[in-house]
Amino acid sequence: MSASGRAFVAGATGYVGREVVAALRAAGVETVAHVRPDSPRLAEWTRRFAALGATVDSTPWEEAPLRDRLVALTPTHVFALLGTTRARARAADQAGAPAADYEAVDYGLTAMLLRAAQAVGPRPRFVYLSAAGVREGTGNAYLAARVRVERELRGAGVHYVIARPAFVTGDDREESRPAERWGAMVGDAALAVVGRLGGRALEARWSSITGASLARGLVRVAFDPTLVDVELFADQLRG
Ligand SMILES: NC(=O)c1ccc[n+]([C@@H]2O[C@H](COP(=O)([O-])OP(=O)(O)OC[C@H]3O[C@@H](n4cnc5c(N)ncnc54)[C@H](OP(=O)(O)O)[C@@H]3O)[C@@H](O)[C@H]2O)c1
Repeated sequence: MSASGRAFVAGATGYVGREVVAALRAAGVETVAHVRPDSPRLAEWTRRFAALGATVDSTPWEEAPLRDRLVALTPTHVFALLGTTRARARAADQAGAPAADYEAVDYGLTAMLLRAAQAVGPRPRFVYLSAAGVREGTGNAYLAARVRVERELRGAGVHYVIARPAFVTGDDREESRPAERWGAMVGDAALAVVGRLGGRALEARWSSITGASLARGLVRVAFDPTLVDVELFADQLRG
């Protein structure tokens, strides 16, 4: 596909984010990849994204600077692909660094990005990478952070796409996440049986997806004018 517009990608250094930057550039979209200014890999990411023809922005995660930057950039699309893990939250805690738990990152930074997007005129489309299983009243902190973001997004006055994949994983993930890989393998094996028994639709919806496939799907739906304010599962996102 080819598309026109200007995308701002938050979480660009992640497993999904880096593939979204690549997919956007492959589609010919002007792309600004956000890398946090304190990233130890800022220079490396600047080189990697420049090689794809994307620009790196390292505005700090602070309310006014982020809002002013987005207002100046006037993106047509904002991708919110951030997320922490329990291990990262623990490491930040032990290092005496600012909180990096689901509340601070998955909710807090994504909500800050949404407020920044609301200040842009005309308002960009907001593409939010949520997760399968998000439901009101959940006691799970990871899902609860997404419930809050989704609630705010639906009332924000921006057009949005909410993506709900189950496991996002593949051999190409740099970070070792054995529990996630194992969970995806077991789940995919069970779903393959379901698929052979006639449940192809269930298999397509709930089986794991790679970062690259999800990224191509996210870019495709983000630029599809017929998909406005939609919530999509993996079967609708495989690219
Ligand atoms: N993995 C799954 O199975 C799955 C399934 C459904 C949904 N999701 C969700 O999809 C999203 C992206 O997943 P992913 O696998 O691409 O994640 P990932 O590889 O862990 O990348 C996370 C991104 O968030 C940024 N980030 C994390 N903590 C931060 C902090 N304290 N301050 C600023 N930036 C921070 C990272 O930046 P740095 O590189 O600078 O740390 C990175 O760009 C997450 O919200 C995840 O929960 C994942």
